[in-house]
Amino acid sequence: MEHEVLLDIQHVSKSFGLTQALKDVSFQVKQGEIRGIIGENGSGKSTISNIIAGIYGKDEGVIRLNGKELRAATAVEAEAEGIALIVQEIGTIGDISVASNIFLGNEKRFVSKGFINHREMNREAKKALEMIGVSSIAPEDRTDRYNLEERKMIEIAKAFYTHPRLMIVDETANALSSHGRGILYAAIEEVKKYGGTVLFITHDLEELIKICDSVTILRDGVYIDTCYGSDMRINELKVKMVGREMSDHYYRSDVEGSMGEQVVMRVENVFTSMLKNVSLELHEGEILGLGGLSDCGMHELGRLMFGLDQPYAGKVTCTGTDQGLKSPVQAIKRGIGYVSKNRDTEAVILQDSVKNNVCLCSLDKISKLGFASPVQENRFADQWIQKLKVKVNNRGEYVASLSGGNKQKVVLAKWLGRGSRILIFDCPTRGIDIGVKEAIYHLMEELKEQGHAILLISEELPELIGMSDRILIMKDGKIVCETMRGPEITESLLIKEMI
Ligand SMILES: Nc1ncnc2c1ncn2[C@@H]1O[C@H](COP(=O)(O)OP(=O)(O)OP(=O)(O)O)[C@@H](O)[C@H]1O
Ligand SMILES: [Mg+2]
Repeated sequence: MEHEVLLDIQHVSKSFGLTQALKDVSFQVKQGEIRGIIGENGSGKSTISNIIAGIYGKDEGVIRLNGKELRAATAVEAEAEGIALIVQEIGTIGDISVASNIFLGNEKRFVSKGFINHREMNREAKKALEMIGVSSIAPEDRTDRYNLEERKMIEIAKAFYTHPRLMIVDETANALSSHGRGILYAAIEEVKKYGGTVLFITHDLEELIKICDSVTILRDGVYIDTCYGSDMRINELKVKMVGREMSDHYYRSDVEGSMGEQVVMRVENVFTSMLKNVSLELHEGEILGLGGLSDCGMHELGRLMFGLDQPYAGKVTCTGTDQGLKSPVQAIKRGIGYVSKNRDTEAVILQDSVKNNVCLCSLDKISKLGFASPVQENRFADQWIQKLKVKVNNRGEYVASLSGGNKQKVVLAKWLGRGSRILIFDCPTRGIDIGVKEAIYHLMEELKEQGHAILLISEELPELIGMSDRILIMKDGKIVCETMRGPEITESLLIKEMI
């Protein structure tokens, strides 16, 4: 039984208006197989996942599960067929409880005498969380009091609890720290063990090779190939994905770091509920890396440096003023840009065009005598759409309709376009494909050369080591280690400081 085909996709096509997201895609996945799906941003990975999970309909083709045609028209119907999807963006509702999210659409089983028995539902939700080894999330809490990673844990618990025949994991690992990834990988292994199938979407090819038995490559909505086991070689996969040879090295090539004399931003003895007496200086012409485990306080420090949160004590200042930073508006005026890890709720206006999002922070730059001409705005937007290869039909398209990685590119374009003197990047390449990652790293180098200061908050150690002039490691709300760029810096060295 073990090696029978579970998922059979035949000639599936799907268009959104002018965009043909999938073109005659066919492939099969066996029971007990962990199949990776890779492709550049906008190649159709989320679209095929959403179709299988009943969220989108398909235009053409047939999908069979265990030989039976799958006709699920809603997520709940797909779930009843044994399909669980962990979506790329946030998949939980903020203003309801954790337990309500875990049993969304399935509340019926807790109804007695016409009422939902919440105590029973909470108890079961706790069990679901414990099944994946999470005990720090309370089922009765409102979901939006938890951060992105914790909310992803809730989704993993929800998916795993249903004991799915097919579990689809869309880019989730990207939002997780190494601890969170461990939990996800363990759940995936468990599904494989009982003979279930997993589709695993990622841009991290090293992770993919570790986790997956096989990988399917999509390019521009077209099926390219499937590789198995030892045939999954990073360089060849890259070529299949991108359609051209890729250089091996996309990080900086200089061995020693450098930075300007002038300090452009200072954090002095800052305390918050998370941060304990944190101080740092950011120099012009410097890429300062900030790393640590997800709850070490680095994301909170990034928010503070953009004026999104206020410290109880201590202050954050920029050159030219002793006044502590009070708000994001003030931060923008002082030349600070910020790319949030949580792009959907903090970084873009989904129900507005790509053009308006890109131009939003730069209107004063684009306009002359207080008036922005549409021609100049269009030119500005097009320039950045091209530079970061944002996949859109036209600049008027809404950000909501872009693929995940393309949304991230819009956020980056917004701040890079403004040419902010100080850039705070929290996981800037999250969900971005390798082709464009390279372009973003080159842009960061260019900005550094021009004297901009960049704070690079990252959970990816190769990125931190590869791009930073100096690295700070945080642990439990404190900076515990500072090292300069150099050939002796290794991942294991940094990990030792983190844990
Ligand atoms: N709801 C939608 N409305 C309009 N266009 C859409 C919608 N969803 C996806 N698309 C388009 O379909 C194409 C494929 O998108 P999809 O989200 O499947 O890409 P992806 O491979 O998941 O990319 P990423 O790596 O960036 O997540 C893109 O060009 C995207 O703009
Ligand atoms: Mg996607």
